[in-house]
Amino acid sequence: MRWGYALDTSFQDHEKLVWTFGGGKGGAGRTLLSTTLGILLAKEERNVVIFDGNLECANAHTALGMRQPQKTLSDFITGKTQDINELAVPTPFRNLRLISSSGDSISATNHSSLAAKNRLLKLIGSINCAHLLTDIGPGLNFWPVDLFLKGDVQILVITPEPTAVETVYHFIRMLIYRKFKNQLGAPQLENTLSAAFTDMRTSGLNDVMERVLEKISATDKSAAVRIAKSIADMELKLVVNQTLDRHDKHIGPAICEIVNKFYGVKMDYAGFIPFDERVALSLRRGRPFIAEYETSETAACFSVTLRELLNSISARNRKRQLDFITS
Ligand SMILES: Nc1ncnc2c1ncn2[C@@H]1O[C@H](COP(=O)(O)OP(=O)(O)OP(=O)(O)O)[C@@H](O)[C@H]1O
Ligand SMILES: [Mg+2]
Repeated sequence: MRWGYALDTSFQDHEKLVWTFGGGKGGAGRTLLSTTLGILLAKEERNVVIFDGNLECANAHTALGMRQPQKTLSDFITGKTQDINELAVPTPFRNLRLISSSGDSISATNHSSLAAKNRLLKLIGSINCAHLLTDIGPGLNFWPVDLFLKGDVQILVITPEPTAVETVYHFIRMLIYRKFKNQLGAPQLENTLSAAFTDMRTSGLNDVMERVLEKISATDKSAAVRIAKSIADMELKLVVNQTLDRHDKHIGPAICEIVNKFYGVKMDYAGFIPFDERVALSLRRGRPFIAEYETSETAACFSVTLRELLNSISARNRKRQLDFITS
């Protein structure tokens, strides 16, 4: 079979899906995964846009074998264009467009004000396509974390190294912190919130959440209910990239178990991608790995991971429909 594995054909482009690829650690493979899954989805006749959310160091265009596009998010941030859809440029792949970021760190740092970033966050949903794959840069500050939370499908990408694993725990902690902070109506609770999240040990996240929710509930019960619901609704996906041996394949399920148990957050393992030196070779040739080595075992791992993600989205949609009918 050409792409190794068939995709789940029961999944239809009924509604727009925003996919976000985060995790915090630099070089984990978010750009590789988002561009590769984008190419695979486009090949299945889906209307796909890749959104390069790495404002300081954009490189999704390079991963797609393109030069820096003329039109980029800089035009939006600096007010040259108001219409974000104008920035979606064609790629070498049918059905796949790219909204590139400036790639100009000076411009990004100077112009990407909080207001501009907030405007971008609001406009993500208005980009015309069936699948918006959002590549997010490294870091744990407001932009990568809030952009990640915009996803209907939220994918954390890690490598098996302890430093990457440690960072992803911090990233999840930040996701929860932002969920609290974004919903908090009463500013007087912000200090309680910051203190609680700063002091806690990672294994104590469940307890911290409960304590802070209790405090919020005392002054704003509806905010506490909203926060608890939005955390209960989280469904993170984990992909382990650059695995080297059989042992590395157990890391993903083990991390999911820890997060489910100690963080009180649902996280499912979506698959692994082995380390493959041809990834760098194809990048140097200016061709995405998936286009150069489409019948390789590594390519099959990308397809299996995509199938797993699409299956889980279909299952979630079915469950929501059922809940709606029975409620
Ligand atoms: N499975 C893999 N096998 C071999 N090399 C890989 C693999 N995944 C990623 N790489 C290499 O690791 C580097 C980082 O990958 P990538 O740019 O996708 O990561 P990132 O998380 O987007 O990084 P950044 O923090 O810069 O945004 C790339 O140079 C790529 O060639
Ligand atoms: Mg990247």
